[in-house]
Amino acid sequence: MFKSLSLCTALTLTVIAPAHADMWTLSGDESKIAFGSVKKDTVGEVHHFKSISGSVDGGKVSVEIDVASVETWIDIRNERMQKMVLNASPKAMISAEIDADELNGMKAGDTTTVDVEGTLTINGNDIPIETSLFVARLSDKKMMATTDEMIMLSTKEAGIDEGVSKLMEVAKLPSITRVSPVTLRLVFEHAGDAKAAAAPAAAATLASVSSGDAAKGKKVFRKCKACHVADSDKNKVGPTLQGVIGRKIAAVDGFKYSKAFKDSDITWSTETLAEFLKKPKTYIKGTKMAFGGLRKPEDIENVIAYLESESK
Ligand code: HEC
Repeated sequence: MFKSLSLCTALTLTVIAPAHADMWTLSGDESKIAFGSVKKDTVGEVHHFKSISGSVDGGKVSVEIDVASVETWIDIRNERMQKMVLNASPKAMISAEIDADELNGMKAGDTTTVDVEGTLTINGNDIPIETSLFVARLSDKKMMATTDEMIMLSTKEAGIDEGVSKLMEVAKLPSITRVSPVTLRLVFEHAGDAKAAAAPAAAATLASVSSGDAAKGKKVFRKCKACHVADSDKNKVGPTLQGVIGRKIAAVDGFKYSKAFKDSDITWSTETLAEFLKKPKTYIKGTKMAFGGLRKPEDIENVIAYLESESK
């Protein structure tokens, strides 16, 4: 469950980050972290935490969950869950650091989906989390991030497996779920004059990945070098990327593209490249580019800036 939260938080952070010195505060009343469980294989239940707090400050997101506020709608179960499962850590923390650029251009009414990486600290364990959040800018002063899909959190990973076993014993249950689906809704509010803070961000729109740093992108390009060059028209395992921006997909003469590539009709822009490089195999199903994708938004931005610099 915390995993989700972390993600959300991170997202918010991103959105807010343009106002660098600004502080965004989690609105506890409007936010919710819920998780599901299944007992005896057939009985599904939904629970949530009543008390969460957090902030986003200069790209650093932190969300704190008061574990004792778990609400399962049965008092004795709340108590057992706190004591047996979550006892070692009264607070669970989600922290994440986000590159603000991707969400810089969001205006009231805009929505986007963002990949977030962070850490969930629970029972003294740091669990890396990766997920994507759907973010909506509600107004100048309000941002909402929700889980894009459910997050599946394993009790083993969270270090609470033993507690769950204890709970089974005490409640005389033959089974309790070992994986919980988690959903998040995080609403952040800006205390100060967010409009002023957001103004410079609007100049660099979300999609203009070209705001990246070509020198840094050249380093990121090391990951591509086994298969591509960008500074000449030579084809390797992959086609030359010289002048790729503004070029139609599968347009290099003499390169043997996959059918998936040949059947696609897109032009490589900063936007389409950003989507492609995030998850090549999802963006072009059936591509033969054997590359998992770039996770960090700043890596994507920078490598595109590098490709752009070689396109001129
Ligand atoms: C293991 C080899 C490999 C790696 C690593 C690799 N690519 Fe590719 N790439 C390919 C192949 C092969 C294709 C052609 C795909 C097809 O035909 O399905 C391709 C296609 C592309 C295209 C489309 C070109 C066109 O003419 O339509 C772009 C853009 C691209 N790669 C960028 C990158 C970037 C940027 C990286 C590094 C972050 C990278 N690739 C890493 C093999 C690779």
